[in-house]
Formats: sequence, C-alpha cells, structure tokens
Amino acid sequence: MKILVTGAAGFIASHLAEKLARRGDEVVGLDNFNDYYDPARKRANEARLNQYPNFKMIEADIRDRQRMFDIFAQEQFAAVAHLAAMAGVRNAITHPDLYVEVDLNGTQHLMDAARAAESVGNFVFASTSSVYGNTTQIPFVETDSCDRPLQPYAAAKRAAEILGYSYHHLFGLNFTAIRFFTVYGPNGRPDMMAYLLADSVTKGLQIPLYDNGMMYRDWTFVDDITDGVAAAIDRPLGYEIINLGRGEPTLLKDFVGMIEELAGQKANVVPTPRLAADFVRNEADISKARRLLGYDPKVSVREGVQRFWQWYILQ
Ligand SMILES: NC(=O)c1ccc[n+]([C@@H]2O[C@H](COP(=O)([O-])OP(=O)(O)OC[C@H]3O[C@@H](n4cnc5c(N)ncnc54)[C@H](O)[C@@H]3O)[C@@H](O)[C@H]2O)c1
Repeated sequence: MKILVTGAAGFIASHLAEKLARRGDEVVGLDNFNDYYDPARKRANEARLNQYPNFKMIEADIRDRQRMFDIFAQEQFAAVAHLAAMAGVRNAITHPDLYVEVDLNGTQHLMDAARAAESVGNFVFASTSSVYGNTTQIPFVETDSCDRPLQPYAAAKRAAEILGYSYHHLFGLNFTAIRFFTVYGPNGRPDMMAYLLADSVTKGLQIPLYDNGMMYRDWTFVDDITDGVAAAIDRPLGYEIINLGRGEPTLLKDFVGMIEELAGQKANVVPTPRLAADFVRNEADISKARRLLGYDPKVSVREGVQRFWQWYILQ
C-alpha cells in the first residue's frame, strides 16, 4: 500500500515510517525540516529511512496548499498518516498563530488534497491527550466533550479532529484521530521531559521540576504507539477518535528516579510551580483501542526507560 507519512523526519513519524517500510509498504515521507529543534536530528532520521528502497522523502510544508494538491495528484496515496505538527505545548503559548496555521489549517489542506486526489481510503491524524485539558473524568475517555483545552496546541488539534468529522460527513473521508499520550523512546524529541532529564543527569543542566514531580503522566513507548497507528492505517473506520496510551500512569518524580537510578547520578532539578497550560494527571482509557485496533501495549515504563537510556548514552 502506498502511504504518505507526514512529519517523517520527526521523532514518532520516523519510527512509524520505518515500521511501514519494513513490512513492505511503499512509504512517502513529507517534512519541512523546520528548526524548532536541531534539524540535524531530522536529517539523521531521514538518512536512516533512506536505507529502505521503498521509502522516499519529499521536503515540503503542509501550509503550502497548492503544493499539497500537486503532491497528492502525482503520488495517488492509498492512505495518509498525518503526524506533521508543531508539537511543543509551551511554545504554543507564545506562538498560537503558528499552531493554528500548521496543526489546523495544514491538516485541512491535506484533507482537501486527499479529497481531490480521490485515491485516499483512510486518513489517520495524530492528535494528543492534551485535548482533555483539566477534565475530571479520569482515566481520559473518548466520550469526554474535550471543549476546555488549556492551550492553543490542544485547541488546534481538537479543532482538526472536529473538522475531520465534517469531511467524513460531507465527503465520506475515513478519518481516525489517534490521541497519543506522552510518547518517549529512542530518537526522542530533545525538548521533552525524558530527553531533558537525560541531559540533566549527564551534563548537570538545570531542569524545571513542576509541582515537585507530583504530576501523573501516562508514558507510552514509541513502539507501542507506532503499532497502534499502523493498525489504524489498516482499518478504515468511518470516523473515530481513539486513545493510545500505556495505561500505567506514573508520577513524574518516579520517572525522574528511574533515570537517576540508571545514570547513577542525580538530576539538577529546579522546583517550579505547575504552569496553567499543564494538567495534573493524564491517564488513558485504552479499551477502545484494544477493541477497534487490537492494540496491546507491551513495553512497561521501567523497560521503556531502560531502552530510552541505552539509546541516549550510545547516540
Ligand atoms: N511526542 C509526544 O509525546 C506526542 C504526544 C501527543 C501527540 N503527539 C503528536 O505526534 C506527532 C509527532 O510528534 P513528535 O513528538 O514526533 O514531534 P516532532 O516535532 O519530532 O515531529 C513533527 C515533525 O513535523 C514536521 N513539521 C512541522 N511543521 C511542519 C510543516 N508545516 N510542514 C511539514 N512538516 C512539518 C517537523 O519538522 C517534525 O519533523 C505530532 O502531530 C504531535 O502533535 C506527540
């Protein structure tokens, strides 16, 4: 199957593209290699993917609407896994326009291009657990209305999920929004907690520890996430929203402790009050993913942290 993977030079989508290439799909990656974090990391991911003869990368920006139409017309994708995004929660507070342009308008361009090309049987969209905001319904379940996002990243992602419904309703587009929960693993984003912590224990860099680490996160290893996304690509479901988490919420302070134990060193944490954009607890109800996708996360947080650490010290 010919599959477009947007954001393929990034953390999660590079793992996904590799998984799809390995199983024999024809994979086209698309990325604009922006400098939100060091583009050299993205080039390294691209080089890893270029080893597969059934992979190619297109350098393009999803905000360029005409370019998206041209690419879809030429390539005739059977499915789309749309993971390209501006994904930093804190950066979204200072750059809300960019998040709306990329995460909402960019997604709309891809849906319009998919419609025009008439080849796309399934459109899978990477959404986020951030859309749940400070809901009191815990664990987070897909039936929650999610109409109180705490920052523009979550608002733009939620808006794109809802727009997906309109395209499904009007044009019959199969659209599945997958809500990822705190993803970590090899090639992880350098602005995310796992990586910042590893930098802190090895280089003594300061790292803010919000709420003394008394926040729960549903850490989910990247291989489990890409298994779930691959299953969603294979199953056009009409319109669905599905959580992908591990279902093993872990206190941030315990996550810090695991990295410190592996490093044999303390992190240089700076106690910091929780930001208004952060929630206290995130925890996924994954029963829908189990039912509709056969999703079965395998990597415990302890094992995942070890695998992440092994990669970090060897990179
Ligand atoms: N990492 C997590 O914990 C997490 C949690 C929830 C949701 N997500 C979602 O998963 C997806 C992947 O996230 P990630 O952590 O791998 O981030 P990432 O930043 O490593 O990957 C995103 C990629 O998209 C590309 N991109 C950004 N804007 C673009 C544009 N205008 N045109 C083309 N490409 C563009 C970037 O260059 C980058 O390579 C995102 O949609 C993100 O919102 C991630």
